[in-house]
Amino acid sequence: MPTRKKVLVTGGAGFVGSHLCERLLADGHDVLCVDNFFTGTRDNIVALLDNPHFELMRHDVTFPLYVEVGEIYNLACPASPVHYQYDPVQTTKTSVHGAINMLGLAKRTKAKILQASTSEVYGDPTVHPQTEDYRGNVNPIGPRGCYDEGKRCAETLFFDYRRQHGTNIRVARIFNTFGPRMHPNDGRVVSNFIVQALQGKPITLYGDGSQTRSFCYVSDMVDGLVRLMAAPDDFTGPVNLGNPRESSIRELAETVVRLTKAKSKLVKKPLPADDPMQRCPDISLAKAKLGWRPKVKLEDGLKETIRYFKETL
Ligand SMILES: NC(=O)c1ccc[n+]([C@@H]2O[C@H](COP(=O)([O-])OP(=O)(O)OC[C@H]3O[C@@H](n4cnc5c(N)ncnc54)[C@H](O)[C@@H]3O)[C@@H](O)[C@H]2O)c1
Repeated sequence: MPTRKKVLVTGGAGFVGSHLCERLLADGHDVLCVDNFFTGTRDNIVALLDNPHFELMRHDVTFPLYVEVGEIYNLACPASPVHYQYDPVQTTKTSVHGAINMLGLAKRTKAKILQASTSEVYGDPTVHPQTEDYRGNVNPIGPRGCYDEGKRCAETLFFDYRRQHGTNIRVARIFNTFGPRMHPNDGRVVSNFIVQALQGKPITLYGDGSQTRSFCYVSDMVDGLVRLMAAPDDFTGPVNLGNPRESSIRELAETVVRLTKAKSKLVKKPLPADDPMQRCPDISLAKAKLGWRPKVKLEDGLKETIRYFKETL
């Protein structure tokens, strides 16, 4: 019988965070969910509010937090370009000040702390697929810099806290994740396509749709995060978590149209600045160290996500 832990999830009312809270409760832990509700909502966690082992706190991670916890998953940060570019200075603050505050908390309480980093630390990669030792190709002064560089700096802080203070850290580099509770207007490709298809609107392809992405279903991602937290203390990462199966954006659009039985046409629009042409994780490290690999097929994950959007739209 595993021991009950007190686990803090920052960004716990968001898309990935809410699924993580559910999983941690199901695993028998006490969960403290901290969120400022910038992109997250109470709706995402409403089913958990009556659970005596769940606690919700409205708090902005750019301010210090004084609580007693044993593990911290630091997910607080808007994740989609429309949201993180809305107030780019706040985005950098959330990543950098948020990391400093949560690492300070981990140092004080001797908690284990996991950072939700991102494949965006690789920028527009020049090697495929990306392994963790690839240092990336990020434009520090472009419109994505607030997110990419904020996350890169957070990784630096995590490793400096480990070197300087012996903090017990883990860094996950999360690749595109999708599933129920994605924000319907976040401009991310999966939610965009599903919402457009369900509303019978044209499906917008940026560029010619030949750029590729890999899509990991949220339950697989949460499982990877939990495994990383449980891994031996000498395994800090960074470790890629994502689905190595690449699909072109056009293929995704066509699958969504087929599954929703929509009449939507595909229309092309110009590619936004610094949009990567290809993004695919090498997950050899996660396989070897965490025994982890994604299990849910794209089409099965899409069906669940479509069902969710049908209910909420
Ligand atoms: N979803 C993906 O494909 C993906 C890919 C790579 C990395 N990530 C990372 O995973 C984490 C979760 O992403 P998500 O997709 O669930 O996004 P999300 O926007 O749904 O969740 C982020 C949560 O953080 C909260 N938040 C934002 N700023 C905050 C602040 N200053 N203080 C407290 N809470 C704050 C939001 O309200 C929201 O609930 C993020 O750190 C993101 O960078 C996600």
